[in-house]
Amino acid sequence: MPITVNQATQSFHLYNDQLSYVMQVKDHRFLLHVYYGQRIREFTQVLPYPEVERSSFSPNPAGYEATNFTLDTALQEFPGCGDGDYRESAFAVTYADGTQATALEYVGYTLEAGKPVLAGLPATYVEHAEAADTLTITLADPVRRLRVTLQYTVFAALPVITRAVQYHNDGDKTLFLDKALSFALDLPDADYDLIQLPGAWAREKQLVRTPLAAGSHVIDSKRGASSVQQQPFMALARPATTETVGEVFACHFVYSGNFQLSASVDTYRQTRLTGGINAEGFRWKLNPQATFQAPEMVLVYSASGLNGMSQAFHRLYRKHLARGLYRDAARPVIINNWETTYFDFDEKRLLGLATKAKQIGVELFVLDDGWFGHRNADNSSLGDWTVDAKKLPKGLAHLSQAIHGLGMQFGLWFEPEMISPDSDLYRAHPDWVLNVPDYPQSQGRNQLVLDFSREDVRQAICAQLDAVLGGVAIDFIKWDMNRNITAAASRLLPADQQQETLHRYMLGLYALVDDITTRYPQILFENCSGGGGRFDPGMCYYMPQSWASDDTDAYERLKIQYGTSLIFPPIMIDAHLSEAPNDQVGRTTPLATRIAVSQSANFGLMMNLEQKTPAELVTLQAAIADYKVHRDLIQFGDFYRLLDPFTHHDGAWMFVDAEQAHARVVYVQGLNQASKPLVNIKLLGLAPDAIYQLNGERWRGDELMHYGLYLNQLLTADFQSAVVDLVRVDN
Ligand code: GLA
Repeated sequence: MPITVNQATQSFHLYNDQLSYVMQVKDHRFLLHVYYGQRIREFTQVLPYPEVERSSFSPNPAGYEATNFTLDTALQEFPGCGDGDYRESAFAVTYADGTQATALEYVGYTLEAGKPVLAGLPATYVEHAEAADTLTITLADPVRRLRVTLQYTVFAALPVITRAVQYHNDGDKTLFLDKALSFALDLPDADYDLIQLPGAWAREKQLVRTPLAAGSHVIDSKRGASSVQQQPFMALARPATTETVGEVFACHFVYSGNFQLSASVDTYRQTRLTGGINAEGFRWKLNPQATFQAPEMVLVYSASGLNGMSQAFHRLYRKHLARGLYRDAARPVIINNWETTYFDFDEKRLLGLATKAKQIGVELFVLDDGWFGHRNADNSSLGDWTVDAKKLPKGLAHLSQAIHGLGMQFGLWFEPEMISPDSDLYRAHPDWVLNVPDYPQSQGRNQLVLDFSREDVRQAICAQLDAVLGGVAIDFIKWDMNRNITAAASRLLPADQQQETLHRYMLGLYALVDDITTRYPQILFENCSGGGGRFDPGMCYYMPQSWASDDTDAYERLKIQYGTSLIFPPIMIDAHLSEAPNDQVGRTTPLATRIAVSQSANFGLMMNLEQKTPAELVTLQAAIADYKVHRDLIQFGDFYRLLDPFTHHDGAWMFVDAEQAHARVVYVQGLNQASKPLVNIKLLGLAPDAIYQLNGERWRGDELMHYGLYLNQLLTADFQSAVVDLVRVDN
């Protein structure tokens, strides 16, 4: 078992080939953090971290008067509140007497093979007990009778440790959790860059790297969703860390609602990372004997740069987060009608598009927004999931049959969490929305949010979905969510539980999507939130692929997909080839570049095929055929970033299959320049001694990786691209 417990030194050592994580209990009382980083074979020291005299402003805990021990500077595993550690706390509790001070003490531990499930929450999983081991440490405040269990799972073959926390009220009085984070991690120095993925609608996951400064740096969402504005991800990288070399400490929260992650540097240049559900807008009533389960945090350690970090996330999420029939299945080539028709379609127009799509090799037709109620604009009908008989008088089943008759699969768009004020559902149940009664109600995209914390509301929506899915053959669902939550309040909750609404909403959403994805295992689900507004590990547990962005412009997508690739593998990212000039940014990019970028993930189209010339259709047909040839490489291969479009004019990446026999390099130029510098691209992931054929020439793997390739001199205009396929020819 890759967890050793040394009774003599009271230490816990979680390890695998790639990492070690060490904790020790001081004086049977304080759970201190000792080490996290490269593998150490055996940790033999007894709390070697020096205790030095600090000023009187760093109090000593009870029983440690006149010693050098203070929680103010110690490296802790799960820092509490009011106990003399003035840095970011991992939790905050208000007890029946209105006070907060809590001092957790070590109680004991258990070990188990495998990884326990987190009831009602998404989490990474293992299929065999040998794939991971779990250490659970119990801490408690005997006076307050608060008990906290810290769960640490170390994966055997990945540089990954997951953390989760349970809070138990062992007392006989109700208490309130004002803050209930999922992890804290103290690092002994502060020599890091902070890496994050902020964004905006249609400009998601923009890679930002800045030196970590003193004070606290917070990345969060208070929107009721993980959001386009931020991703629940943060990484600390050594300043010299590159894509391939150097240390990275990353964390990613398996949750889709409000979150907070922070990196704080204290006055002694130590760094504390914390993360979990955002404390703002959260207060959980914990009755006697009740338990609160905080969601999972994934920690990735890489000693081999950002690519090492991404390989770990990609492998973890492909095999230990995504679930269901599609986890290991090739994903179909899609056509989606949205940018072609918007709300303006009828069956004839859809079938015309589908027929052309089939002719060029598309496998799945997705009917987007506008098929239900009387939805001719984005101001009505959400909540009324019955077909619009004006647009589709023969019904959905007829359309689905016709699409299947063409030899294609059929998919449908839903936005189940939302309701339009102009809907029969709202007219019947105006109290089913999240809002404060008799208080002004704000809309976003003309819509309100259903109270998914309520089981009756979820059941009513579920019944509507079941009615559609029961009568129509549907192979794919695009599950959208297009606004953030305001005035989060639920009619069913008492005053002292109103601040539970947002987390209860998430638990309700998870319960519903778990139920639907389990009962319709043959349906492939696409997670969408106006693009990547909820593209987070929580949703990826239920839905194996996500619409990364409403921006389909090739140059914007170059950046969005590059940023997304830090944490998610290509098979989780949906990318569609669209028209030029682009609908979102008005930019014209060459068709070949739009194809190259959208083929670097799950390929699809959002194009008006009926307006294409025969020559254009031939090009598209060839692109789809090419994608099918390379689909396994792209969807199941290893992904490597080669050139960062956020710090360079251009961007590049590559795919390598498991056998290192096939690879594809994609290079996209930004603006062309006169007298431009040549760019050398050093390939990654190839077999060093293998011989690869590319562009009619033969190269050794090590030449391609160390000498590299020059591609940008071939590109003579803005936004041109080069795609180079490599085939191993020596075996
Ligand atoms: C969101 C999605 C789009 C499309 C529209 C439909 O913006 O991200 O892809 O489905 O909704 O209204």
